[in-house]
Amino acid sequence: MSVPATISETSLAGLRLVRRGKVRDVYEVDDGRLLIVATDRISAFDCILPTQIARKGEVLTALSRFWFARLKHITDNHLLTIDLEHAPESVRAHAAELRGRSMLVRRTEVFPVECVVRGYLAGSGWKDYRSTGEICGHKLPAGLRESDQLPAPIFTPATKAETGHDENISEARMCKIVGAETTARLRDISLALYAEAETYARARGIIIADTKFEFGLDARGQIILIDEALTPDSSRFWPLDDYEPGRAQASFDKQFVRDYLETLDWDKRPPAPPLPAEVAAATTARYLEAYRLLTGSEL
Ligand SMILES: Nc1ncnc2c1ncn2[C@@H]1O[C@H](COP(=O)(O)OP(=O)(O)O)[C@@H](O)[C@H]1O
Ligand SMILES: [Mg+2]
Repeated sequence: MSVPATISETSLAGLRLVRRGKVRDVYEVDDGRLLIVATDRISAFDCILPTQIARKGEVLTALSRFWFARLKHITDNHLLTIDLEHAPESVRAHAAELRGRSMLVRRTEVFPVECVVRGYLAGSGWKDYRSTGEICGHKLPAGLRESDQLPAPIFTPATKAETGHDENISEARMCKIVGAETTARLRDISLALYAEAETYARARGIIIADTKFEFGLDARGQIILIDEALTPDSSRFWPLDDYEPGRAQASFDKQFVRDYLETLDWDKRPPAPPLPAEVAAATTARYLEAYRLLTGSEL
């Protein structure tokens, strides 16, 4: 069976689909393991577009693997393998379709909070700051501009909303959900991961303005990093050479998509319009460029 150039959705016979997210399809492999498949779906303005972005799933997977390895000294993570050679037969049966875009991971009990770290003022953080002068209970200096770097990175957790938008919460609220001790651990790990990644990326031309981590408890009762890590989908990446506070920054990966969609008379509600081939190709190039800048090698 030939494998299409892009994949919008998977349906893997013999494996139980446990979740279809905006971008990833998650399958149960056995009691202890999940298979996370990154498709080439792309969303903009919270709508999934009918056009896929070639190689996107591969970039998300390879970039997560890169960060998992690089940050392992700070926290252990769920990745078992990307190379499916040693995976169970139920997974290997789909090897051609899954190559490069899937991770076999340890299944965990997921903490129901998004562990967001912000180093710069953007998105909902900028919105909250403008209306209250704070983000998630962090009082910030007056007079900051949109996209300004914060005096120090802050931990700004959010609830995981099943539908609609995640809600920013204070650390005190997070303590009520996962306990004070776990909150402090997740905060400290998140801040340490962000600090190391931000410094690393900045030296390579990418500002990681903010990012979201997820954590879970593994079978041994240890907290580990799960999901994807420090990808353009879970973070705001800004090109360093265009950085200018006082305005919104172009997003590293979705700039061409958003710019194109803004030229249309579309109300930003589903169904979203398709992308022209050149916009999709330019977006693939951006994903590959982010990978190359961060890892120093071509995918
Ligand atoms: N190791 C793991 N154990 C259990 N669940 C996980 C693990 N890693 C990721 N997940 C879950 O898998 C899902 C990934 O799908 P995704 O496409 O990111 O969904 P969403 O649209 O909710 O972001 C998330 O719900 C995430 O919490
Ligand atoms: Mg997700």
